[in-house]
Amino acid sequence: MVQATIHFPRGFLWGTATSAHQVEGNNTNNDWYRWEQQEGRIINGHTSGLACDWWGGRWKEDFDRAAKAGQNAHRLSVEWSRIQPAPDRWDEDALDHYRMMLRGLRERGMTAMVTLHHFTNPIWLEEQGGWENEAVIPHFEKFTCIVVEALKEYTTLWCTLNEPNGYLAVSYALGLWPPGKKDIKLSFQVTTNQVRAHAAAYRAIHRIQPEARVGIAFHYRSMVPSHPAFPLDHWARGIQHRLLNETFPRALVDGILRFPFKRVKVPEAANTQDYFGLNYYTRVRVAFDLRVPGQLFGRQFFPAGADVSSKGYNANEPEGFFEAMKWGLQFKIPIIITENGIEDAEDTIRPRYIAQHIQQMWRGVNFNWQVKGYFHWTLVDNFEWERGWNHRFGLWELDEKTQIRRKRPSADLYAEICRENGLSTEMIQKYCPEVMQKMFPV
Ligand code: FCB
Repeated sequence: MVQATIHFPRGFLWGTATSAHQVEGNNTNNDWYRWEQQEGRIINGHTSGLACDWWGGRWKEDFDRAAKAGQNAHRLSVEWSRIQPAPDRWDEDALDHYRMMLRGLRERGMTAMVTLHHFTNPIWLEEQGGWENEAVIPHFEKFTCIVVEALKEYTTLWCTLNEPNGYLAVSYALGLWPPGKKDIKLSFQVTTNQVRAHAAAYRAIHRIQPEARVGIAFHYRSMVPSHPAFPLDHWARGIQHRLLNETFPRALVDGILRFPFKRVKVPEAANTQDYFGLNYYTRVRVAFDLRVPGQLFGRQFFPAGADVSSKGYNANEPEGFFEAMKWGLQFKIPIIITENGIEDAEDTIRPRYIAQHIQQMWRGVNFNWQVKGYFHWTLVDNFEWERGWNHRFGLWELDEKTQIRRKRPSADLYAEICRENGLSTEMIQKYCPEVMQKMFPV
């Protein structure tokens, strides 16, 4: 039998990613809180409630878990509505709370990465039109300055926006997230404001902290035409790929937003990334379908036989991850995997998902691709937006009512990977022997 260990470069970041609204609990002053109170918005009527009770202090025990499991980094986000509860009010206690958490990471020997915007908006901002109104740009810049001044002692690694393309698609095309609109034209306005806000924040952060490394966390969805010989499938796949995967990050290179049938110049956004933050979850097939004009005539699905989770939201498609990193090379800056994971309460797919994705990352690193770190989504089950508590992404399971955590086998596998700074055939034999032959063919 083959015996091998694949290793990563010294200093590689291994961690998990979280976001404020999904873990803190009692976030009652943002658009998501309002959204959760409306009937029919969240599957089974779930609400974020106490979430993982990080605001109540349980971040300590969860950071302990992460540190004991060999993780040397953590990506978290700050909640705008806590820090700026009203346009003219800044909450020093909230900033202190984040300082305490970041100190907590430092005390545990963990590098912090801080995201400034992870989907949620203060209610006051929503009432001004949120990201549709260009007034958001100076607001976001000011918010960024306050946060960076307050937290700069604890981190140099900043992420301005999480998944601006996800936000566009789910909030403004599918209408599943607040403000629940289905208006592609409006989504272009929102994207333009996000690009401009990012550019303003990028400069502001560097003014305050010249050594900062600033980027976004970008969701790359690997898409394959359903029938390779069918031109309309290629067309549908191409338009979705360009709009969802390319528009935003290319604008941060050359300052041009290329929407379908329309270009918008945002020169201030050119060259505003120091690393490329990549969120990768899955690969889908795309078939041309006249019944889905809102999705630009591309119906996405998983092919028969795909290794799909029981919830059917993500499939284990590690080659798509390799493709995503390869695609990310065009930006010619280091890559950080800011999210990767799968919903799997039973933890049947997750061990092989982790092992196979990490193997793909190693393939890239071996080509000398500058991949610098990996943040698994996520540490402990948390509130999954419109899917509520129905989707379970945690290395640890959470009973949100009792707040009891229970370790899944994947947590042990990931701990072995973090401690080894690599992945061995022994680990695969132990946690996911079913993919041994696929990963290390003999
Ligand atoms: C990503 C989001 C993150 C989480 C995971 C499962 O798209 O950035 O907040 O919901 O999906």
